[in-house]
Amino acid sequence: MPRYAITTFGCQMNVHDSERMHDVLRRAGYAEAGDPDEADVLVLNTCSVREKAEQKLRSEVGRLARWKRERPDRVLVVAGCVAQQEGERLLKQMRAIDVVVGPDNIPELPGLLGDLALGGLPIARTVFDTEAPRFLAASPPQGASAQGAPGRAPTAFVTIMKGCDERCSFCVVPYTRGPERYRPSDEIVAEIAGLVAAGTREVTLLGQTVNSYRDPLGALPAAPGASPDDPDESEFAALLRRIAADVPGLARLRYTSPHPRHLTPSLILAHAELAVLPRHVHLPVQSGSDRVLRRMIRRYTRAEYVARTRALAAAVPGLSLSTDIIVGFPGETEDDFAATLSLVREVGFKGLFGFKYSRRPHTPALRLPDDVPEDVKGARLSRLFEESEALLSAHLQGLVGTTQEVLVEGRDKERGHGGPGGALWSGRTGRHEIAHIEGAEELDLLGEIVEVAVVRANKHSLQAELTGAARAAARPRQRGGAEPGRPARRALPVLSAEGG
Ligand code: 5AD
Repeated sequence: MPRYAITTFGCQMNVHDSERMHDVLRRAGYAEAGDPDEADVLVLNTCSVREKAEQKLRSEVGRLARWKRERPDRVLVVAGCVAQQEGERLLKQMRAIDVVVGPDNIPELPGLLGDLALGGLPIARTVFDTEAPRFLAASPPQGASAQGAPGRAPTAFVTIMKGCDERCSFCVVPYTRGPERYRPSDEIVAEIAGLVAAGTREVTLLGQTVNSYRDPLGALPAAPGASPDDPDESEFAALLRRIAADVPGLARLRYTSPHPRHLTPSLILAHAELAVLPRHVHLPVQSGSDRVLRRMIRRYTRAEYVARTRALAAAVPGLSLSTDIIVGFPGETEDDFAATLSLVREVGFKGLFGFKYSRRPHTPALRLPDDVPEDVKGARLSRLFEESEALLSAHLQGLVGTTQEVLVEGRDKERGHGGPGGALWSGRTGRHEIAHIEGAEELDLLGEIVEVAVVRANKHSLQAELTGAARAAARPRQRGGAEPGRPARRALPVLSAEGG
């Protein structure tokens, strides 16, 4: 059996696409290689949202040229957004690459590999499926409990739309992922019901502008609070309501990433009424300066962002918000940046991904000079992280001594992190804080929602212990049981230190 390996860069959509490539390749008779260097077929699933991400691909292909020379029958596949963006050019620029496959062409991958094995030339396939969009469901990820029982991966992603009709001037995604296409709500609900039946507790709905969702078959009734005259209205709230009603066994329903424009009254009302929606939303703002927001073509003002998030926070007590911010966009002045810092404080984000602006091909902002010097971008990013770290730290400190409900996602990778014996299990609170659970090594908590007492705050996470009631209710772990299989994927880290 030929062996394959997949290396994934970039966003949740890419993580999810990699899962689908796993499925497609396994079904075609490939087996996963334990060590990527041992693989016969190596797939690099790439990201091009920032220049740094694209550079990663180029250095990785450089490294792999030697891997190919060792055994010329090895096959190097480039998938994802750089594949879509560059297409055939990649084959010419980097001779080590055999196959280039776009996000919409994943089902064709085994066929392309088959042609190559029969002596075919290197090939690029990057065609959007605009006419008949395909939404491949990933088969339920196979987790394993401490006892080795399969089918208990606690979290899963479900794609509800793909592509993007926004035209944010910095962003390459409309080019790499194409126009918006939506998946029928019947299919979405069926996939979620199947996942929940297999043991999934939390689903994250995925889409580039996830809350612009509309049912392409018109199968959803209007949601309460929806105004048909509002150009920002979508059917996203209606979809959330349908999922909550039709899949009552689902414990948590998250989504990423929404556009602030579509945070409409109907969505805010859904948050107020649906217990399945946890108290955290990741809502990229990008800048706190109206001048910059306008040049970014974000289609909202700072005041509108603040008003909408205030309304959401009023509807959902204890809500926490996280965000994405770009520093050093063309023309960004010290005053513009000061406005961003003041917005971070005003909204009180509990998590923040910050990036230095980088020019991307095919984007409208290419017409603007990239005039903020690199060292100024770096200094602004550091300042931004100082601010957000201070907010997060105060927030986490404030949770010490409280009890929280944690969905246990897996075993802690950072053993020894939590004092004697180390924390073994870790997961997320409803507000998405990472919690490490100490003193529960002998229990099987995978996929359980457990009540914990927070004993300490780390820099980016909480240290916790099971409450007496949670401990009494928990199952003992069987010795010698299997380790969890492919780890449950994390929806979002609470805070990123990425330098853009
Ligand atoms: N430069 C820097 N950051 C960018 N992002 C998107 N495009 C760029 C760019 N050209 C950031 C945005 C987006 C996140 C996924 O990546 O903040 O929300």
